[in-house]
Amino acid sequence: MKIFIDTAEVKEIRDAASLGIIDGVTTNPSLIAKSGRKFEDVIKEIVEIVDGPISGEVKATTTECDDIIKEAIEISKIHKNMVVKIPMTKEGLKAVSELSKKGIKTNVTLIFNANQALLAAKAGATYVSPFLGRLDDISTYGMDLIEDINLIFNNYGFETEIICASIRNPLHVLDCAKVGADIATIPYKVLMQLVDHPLTTIGIEKFKKDYLDSNK
Ligand code: E4P
Repeated sequence: MKIFIDTAEVKEIRDAASLGIIDGVTTNPSLIAKSGRKFEDVIKEIVEIVDGPISGEVKATTTECDDIIKEAIEISKIHKNMVVKIPMTKEGLKAVSELSKKGIKTNVTLIFNANQALLAAKAGATYVSPFLGRLDDISTYGMDLIEDINLIFNNYGFETEIICASIRNPLHVLDCAKVGADIATIPYKVLMQLVDHPLTTIGIEKFKKDYLDSNK
């Protein structure tokens, strides 16, 4: 499973990338706003850190197909690794199908059911982003959605890859890997939680003590 980091904080991206485990980056308007920086400034720094797909979303106020296409072309010109994130709407789908003909990579976001993912794949999306955690938040199993999309894409041999998004905890990551999802995009905090285990910490302490005791 490929691991993307889901953040617009350059410091977090740099730190996670230094572990050699990061295949790409996803951002969204909320993450950019949280960083307190301009979209272009953040993206230009990110593409220098990670050599993999970098999702940058069209402005939340850009809703008409022609405007989405214009903005997507500009985003794609920033760097060869740019993927244009487009919300799942009728206008968004129209734009995705035009952009895919132009060879511009897209990530259809805010996917909450498998039919939306099916349409996005038919329109030629490079990636779909089903939101796991936000479904769990409303008492609906997000993982069921990932499994359904995986099944449908395999049934028909779609090349569209699934980015499991809105990941909130280590069990989400584990479940995504178990069902064979293509990609999990993970917030920095959850990534760091994956590194640790209390028995690893206790084991390191014991090795240290035994080493020091035997080398007195
Ligand atoms: C990434 O592509 C999504 O925008 C992000 O994972 C959403 O996460 P949230 O539901 O925690 O805001």
